[in-house]
Amino acid sequence: MAGVIGGPIEALDVERVKKDFPILDCPTHGRRLVFLDSASSAQRPRAVLEAMDHYYETTHANVHRGVYAIAEEATRLYEEARVKVGRFIGAPSPSREIVFTKNATEAINLVAHGWGRRFLQPGDVVVLSEMEHHANLVPWLMLAEERDIELRYLPITDDGQLVLDNLEQLVEGARLVSLTLVSNVLGTINPLPYIAGVAHAAGAVVLADGAQFVPHLPTDVSSLGCDFLAFTGHKMLGPTGIGVLWARSDLLEAMAPFLGGGSMISDVRLDGFLPNEVPWKFEAGTPPIAEAVGLGAAVDYLGGLGMDQVRAHERDLTAYALGSLGDRYGDDLTIHGPADPAARGGVLSMVYKNVHAHDLAQVLDQAAVCVRPGHHCAKPLMRRLRVPATARASFYLYNDAADVDALANALADADVFFA
Ligand code: ALA
Repeated sequence: MAGVIGGPIEALDVERVKKDFPILDCPTHGRRLVFLDSASSAQRPRAVLEAMDHYYETTHANVHRGVYAIAEEATRLYEEARVKVGRFIGAPSPSREIVFTKNATEAINLVAHGWGRRFLQPGDVVVLSEMEHHANLVPWLMLAEERDIELRYLPITDDGQLVLDNLEQLVEGARLVSLTLVSNVLGTINPLPYIAGVAHAAGAVVLADGAQFVPHLPTDVSSLGCDFLAFTGHKMLGPTGIGVLWARSDLLEAMAPFLGGGSMISDVRLDGFLPNEVPWKFEAGTPPIAEAVGLGAAVDYLGGLGMDQVRAHERDLTAYALGSLGDRYGDDLTIHGPADPAARGGVLSMVYKNVHAHDLAQVLDQAAVCVRPGHHCAKPLMRRLRVPATARASFYLYNDAADVDALANALADADVFFA
């Protein structure tokens, strides 16, 4: 570990953490894997893999149906995972307020369908921002086409922060404010508690897209002040195929079901149906059971390390990366987003000289450095930044200064390649 990083980072023993992730021992192109794409999908610790294996080897059966022992145990594990996830985000009523979805995208779509289609009328206002992921744009654009609702957008500064000067006017008359907590491109951490206060005063409810927040920062829905929180398992050491919507109980009660089918009903006749109680009214069909068990193990793992420690480590690592890359490459390397590491998560969207992001990512891959090139599902933001694409490096708890140094050295390879 480079000496530049000190203080709180010592609290997280990254060398020990790395040993928990089997994939980090698998070389790529014969070299040590330098995985810098956790904002896209994180890796899994052995504890998550073993929990899922153990579940399949000893317990698997469908949930909420069978009365035999392993079916009841599977149901218990599935509902236990719901409570673990709820506690992890400070949900006041974990067993009632957590809905398992497929991913964060489906969680936001659930709000658009279950709440938006029930409560939004033509002319109603939804406030978004220029830095949203497509997952928090397209569902509202679809609803705007169907319902003729008005979409308003919070603009951003050139260094990737929300412009809040006219927030009061922008949210006036709004029914919903739906914003990302951390930009997946800029890393910006948005001041949601303040925005939620203004939105609530205007009579709006607040949806927070926590896909890039919940895995990296301590999360407490009450402190955030949001009414809905969407996030996903695979970015927080859990499996793919499971996401989460947290919502206030009264909102979940008022919302219409989204997907119809088994489990989400209390009665069905040929001329109608009665929905199940929350949260099961939103979980049609066989749910992601092993995935819930895996996600439960992931939050146990994160909670065991401490989310304050995870955040401190990533903030220090981001500071080191901004400093060392800036010193070495100066104006040849643009890193979008706020300059202050305290204002951002561990996401570095880079533009290097005039090298296209895809070419850059391929050169980095030859050094076993994994970054994501492209528009990052945020095309309006790319237009605002006036770039077609960036190469994005993103950090997690298993990254260290040696990984940043590997990225810095691999960038020099691009110079040789494209000279
Ligand atoms: N939303 C994910 C990302 O930003 C896939 O890469």
